[in-house]
Formats: sequence, C-alpha cells, structure tokens
Amino acid sequence: MPARMNTSDIRLHARGLSKTFVLHTQGGVHIPVFDGIELKVASGECVCLHGPSGAGKSTLLRSLYANYKPDAGEIRVRHDGTMIDLLMVEPWEVVEIRRRTIGYVSQFLRVIPRVPTLDIVAEPAIVNGVASGEAHAAARTLLSRLRIPERLWSLAPATFSGGEQQRVNIARGFIVDYPVLLLDEPTASLDAANRQTVIELINEAKARGTAIFGIFHDEEVREAVADRLFEVGKQPLRKTRLSATAAEAAARCQPLLLRPVTTSITRRQRNTR
Ligand SMILES: Nc1ncnc2c1ncn2[C@@H]1O[C@H](COP(=O)(O)OP(=O)(O)OP(=O)(O)O)[C@@H](O)[C@H]1O
Ligand SMILES: [Mg+2]
Repeated sequence: MPARMNTSDIRLHARGLSKTFVLHTQGGVHIPVFDGIELKVASGECVCLHGPSGAGKSTLLRSLYANYKPDAGEIRVRHDGTMIDLLMVEPWEVVEIRRRTIGYVSQFLRVIPRVPTLDIVAEPAIVNGVASGEAHAAARTLLSRLRIPERLWSLAPATFSGGEQQRVNIARGFIVDYPVLLLDEPTASLDAANRQTVIELINEAKARGTAIFGIFHDEEVREAVADRLFEVGKQPLRKTRLSATAAEAAARCQPLLLRPVTTSITRRQRNTR
C-alpha cells in the first residue's frame, strides 16, 4: 500500500453511492445493494473489491463504468486532466470516457458473431487512433502472452472455451493503456500459468500508472496485485420502505431479501479512506 496517497493522483473518486434494484416485473421487489459508500483509487494503485458472493461487487464495478445508474451519489473520474462526474455527463461523453479513460474487463466476453479474434482484440486500440498494423501487432503479442494458439486468431471466439474467451477479453482490456481499469474476476476460469500472466499484465499496468479496481476470486492473485481491500456488503443499508404489493411479493421471494444488515461504523470508516 502506498504510504501516502497523493490526492493529485486520484483517478476516480466515488462518493455517496447508493443502489437499489427494483424488480418491476416481480411485484416491485426492492433489492438494496449498497448505500452511501465512498471509494477512490490513485494512479498506480490496485484496489480489490472484496466480499461474499452477492455482496454487490459486480454491481459496484458496473456502476463505476456507468453500466448501472446509482440512485444517488457521484463518480468523479479524471478525464483529459479534469475531474468529471460520470453520472452528470451526456451519453456521448460516457462513450468518450469509456473509449479513452476507463477500460472494463467483464467476467464474460460479449461474443460478436463472425468477427475474428485478432480484430476483436485490436479494435479498442484502433478506435483510439492506433494504426491498424500496429494495433494488430499489439493484439498478436497479447494473444501469444495469454497462450491463445495462433490457429484460433482468425476465428470468431463464439466456439472458444470459457477460459479462452476470458483471455480474449483480457487481451482486449489491456491493449489500450487506460488511465483507469475495472476488472471483474479476470482470472476466474484460468489455469495457473495464465493466472500468472494476468498478474504480470496487471502489475505492468500499475507500473505505467494505471489505477485499478478489481474483483479477484483467487487469493494468490489478490496477494500479488492488490494494494488494499475495499469490503463490499459491510456498509449499513438503510431500511427500504416497501409498498404493500411489494412487501407481499417480497414475502414470496424471501431468499432475495435475506441480506445481512450491519451497523459496523469501524468497517465503514476503514472503507472510506
Ligand atoms: N440486474 C440486476 N437486477 C436485479 N438484481 C440484481 C441485478 N444484478 C445484481 N442483482 C442483485 O444484486 C445483488 C448483488 O449482486 P452482484 O452481482 O453485484 O454480487 P457480487 O458481489 O458480484 O457476487 P458474486 O461474487 O457472486 O459475483 C444480488 O443480490 C443480486 O441478486
Ligand atoms: Mg460478481
């Protein structure tokens, strides 16, 4: 962990973030996920989002990528030298911020039919102005490092194994030197050698100054890359008022609502450093 965090190096700072899912098609059941949380990440730092399954780690990461809209709060991200609130900008600016500033490696590759693997990996570099030849060379380097056999590079990854698709997704996320990178379980279905490669890619990105929020299932990976942990699911959740119909539906959907509510202040303080 860096001894002191230089505040001028903060790349992303989220404050007061709250998210409750409302299942309109299931009687309006409310699923509170997090409430009033604050987290930040500096250049060259990797913060691990940690917590049990269902705690809200992926929801938080998707919110930081503006895939989900939080109910409250702000997400300030350094874009072109200025801190911009991701929740206040126009949709075209979100696209720009995603193109140049925030990269996101989802747990599963969104497979585009008929597009060869090499083009899928090169594409984020090309849309950032890198010449096609250079982008494809970088894509080949990453695919080799991640042990995708060369005979697969000209094929669309629809038929690839889970681990192969995940490695294509990782190559796509690392081909651009994003200032901020969000990683959702990038090593979940990888073998030891490829896990090690991902650890190296993450540490190389940190050395270049990339600020990373990551979810790492694997303790070995966490140990190797994380500077600190941010515990998700330990923050107190406000009681959500349910309508009568929603309360009835909630009774029918008990397991969805069985989320532990904690009032631990110390945990929360630890998280909002
Ligand atoms: N799109 C959605 N609509 C409704 N509820 C959702 C949605 N996405 C997640 N949830 C709910 O939000 C809660 C948190 O889910 P999330 O996927 O963020 O957990 P997680 O910490 O990433 O879990 P895991 O470690 O299993 O991946 C869960 O109770 C889940 O059912
Ligand atoms: Mg998840």
